[in-house]
Amino acid sequence: EQGSKNLKVAIVGSGLIGQNWAMIFAGAGYQPCLFDVDEGQLSRALEGTRQTLSKYEKEGQLRGKGTASEQADRIKGTNSLQECLDGAFYVQECVPENLDLKKKVFGEMDSLATDDMILASSSSCLCASSFAADLKHKQNTLVAHPVNPPYFLPLVEIVPAEFTCPEVAKKTRSLMEEIGQSPITLKYECRGFALNRIQYACINECWNMYKTGLLSAEDIDKICTDGLGLRYAIIGPLETMHLNANGIKDYCERYAQGAVEVQKETFHPLPVMYDTETAEKIEQELQSTLPLEKLQDRRVWRDGMLAGLAKYKNDSNK
Ligand code: NAI
Repeated sequence: EQGSKNLKVAIVGSGLIGQNWAMIFAGAGYQPCLFDVDEGQLSRALEGTRQTLSKYEKEGQLRGKGTASEQADRIKGTNSLQECLDGAFYVQECVPENLDLKKKVFGEMDSLATDDMILASSSSCLCASSFAADLKHKQNTLVAHPVNPPYFLPLVEIVPAEFTCPEVAKKTRSLMEEIGQSPITLKYECRGFALNRIQYACINECWNMYKTGLLSAEDIDKICTDGLGLRYAIIGPLETMHLNANGIKDYCERYAQGAVEVQKETFHPLPVMYDTETAEKIEQELQSTLPLEKLQDRRVWRDGMLAGLAKYKNDSNK
């Protein structure tokens, strides 16, 4: 059962997220088996994970136990879904975010699954009730949503449907903990899950501040990179309140009224995001320092910085 290593995990879809899961599970001692409908992609994924693990090893970012090549040897691939699921106790689906496709793939997995196999989806916004409600094994399905790049950002949102067996959500949560991810469990399904609800509230206010001419795009981003983001990488918003006064109740007594007054002026019951005119202005400003052709380099830089931060947090917390 869980906790004992060398168990097989099925990963359905070998793109960006599937490869990340494979590397994470391999580092934790599991035997991930990747499946993809695109055979060329499958071999690119096997080669890609091997190269990425070796790069992480050279850069001191490799997670888990064993060398990069030992970890890569644990990752297998197949072009048969049946072979992929055969003998696995846990399936992590990672196909593109499309309702009909998720329904189709979950239908196929359902017909091959054993009664105790957990079927988890990496879906970013689709809930299990929208693609798994008609399945024989629906009580074994749920969403386990990672954050990009999952190898360095450990949060996983576990979102059970009403029909998900509570034991399945609990087992998935402890599996995520065991492999070094950081799970949270939503008590019920909701649109956007949790991370994006917070992210959208934040983007919404950034948009609003830009639109009203309060700050430049560069300065708005600095609020997070040199202010809130640094703080929230260490303690969350609720603990911040708790620490910034003598407990959270004291914080509310001191600051809640002021916060409400601020929000009377700034709070928009309807989102203000994504009007074309503002989007064009922000794009122009961002492109003056970060043109589109430099985005890929910047993504690589970002992942390296996140790796350093994750390592710093792990090393200094033990
Ligand atoms: P991707 O496009 O990189 O990879 C999807 C893979 O699925 C491709 O290799 C494709 O060939 C394969 N595929 C397509 N149909 C298939 C089928 N019927 N059976 C097996 N494999 C099939 O997509 P990505 O980014 O890895 O996303 C996968 C899932 O993870 C999506 O639900 C997405 O919303 C979610 N997700 C993505 C994040 C991101 O930042 N990219 C973050 C968190 C979750």
